[in-house]
Amino acid sequence: MAGAGHQDSLETSGPAASGLDTSVPHIARVYDYWLGGKDNFAADREAAEQVIEAYPGILSDVRAQRAFLANAVRYLAGTAGVRQFLDIGTGIPTANNTHEVAQDVQPDCQVVYVDNDPVVLSHARALLVGVTAPTAYVDADLRDTGKILVEAAQLLDFSKPVAIMLIGVLHLIPDEDGPHAIVTRLMEAVPSGSWLALSHPARDVHPQQVTEAASRFNQLAAAKATLRTRAEILRFFDGLELLEPGLVQVHQWRPGLDAPGHNQQTAGYCGLARKT
Ligand SMILES: C[S@@+](CC[C@H](N)C(=O)[O-])C[C@H]1O[C@@H](n2cnc3c(N)ncnc32)[C@H](O)[C@@H]1O
Repeated sequence: MAGAGHQDSLETSGPAASGLDTSVPHIARVYDYWLGGKDNFAADREAAEQVIEAYPGILSDVRAQRAFLANAVRYLAGTAGVRQFLDIGTGIPTANNTHEVAQDVQPDCQVVYVDNDPVVLSHARALLVGVTAPTAYVDADLRDTGKILVEAAQLLDFSKPVAIMLIGVLHLIPDEDGPHAIVTRLMEAVPSGSWLALSHPARDVHPQQVTEAASRFNQLAAAKATLRTRAEILRFFDGLELLEPGLVQVHQWRPGLDAPGHNQQTAGYCGLARKT
């Protein structure tokens, strides 16, 4: 959600009071900068620029990822008839947020957002005032699937299909924290007919550039990014039925449908899969 200017004025409130340390880049605000938003601080902008310098394609990649999110939600709320969404790693609101796309297709769609960033939290609270259908926000870490599922169950009915959205967030979970087991726990909690929508940055596309970009980001940010190969990302879909065209580079997913408008080889994979 764009404000009148950058957010540095908030820095006066201090990290201890708000839980916000503006001196360390956080991916939510770095991502906001790449998308042209205003909800970022000097440290976020510095990290974002470092990544752009190493891998300029990041700017079109993040837009392609937003297009995938909108296309996937439109498919789920429309063709697939899903009415419940659990969007983990929400991000700072921008255009076409999950509840807006879903409720545009079907006004009774219910959405629970989950994030662990205080800036995302404050924007989410403001954004959710007056939405058409019940929509909620959970302040939790993706690793804490127990808390996420208990709190989401206050709004969502886990006996009915749920679309779990993990768009651009699993790379912030290092291998030692068991990202594949996290996805398994989430998918075990939902009934058949539920979906997994996932997008993840790649290590095996433009490998030299993206490795350098990740290394620069990781030197600055507290939460480090782990890039993964297509094979490693495909494992997140184990036991699920991938919708055509399968796990593909983000710009290739259902091209023509709100396509991001570029032919660049995105350094990221995405897919949509159904629990049978
Ligand atoms: C790159 S942004 C993606 C935002 C959005 N899903 C999109 O595709 O536009 C990643 C988001 O995940 C959140 N995030 C990162 N690590 C997280 C964690 N361990 N638990 C919950 N949220 C996390 C960040 O705060 C940020 O909002």
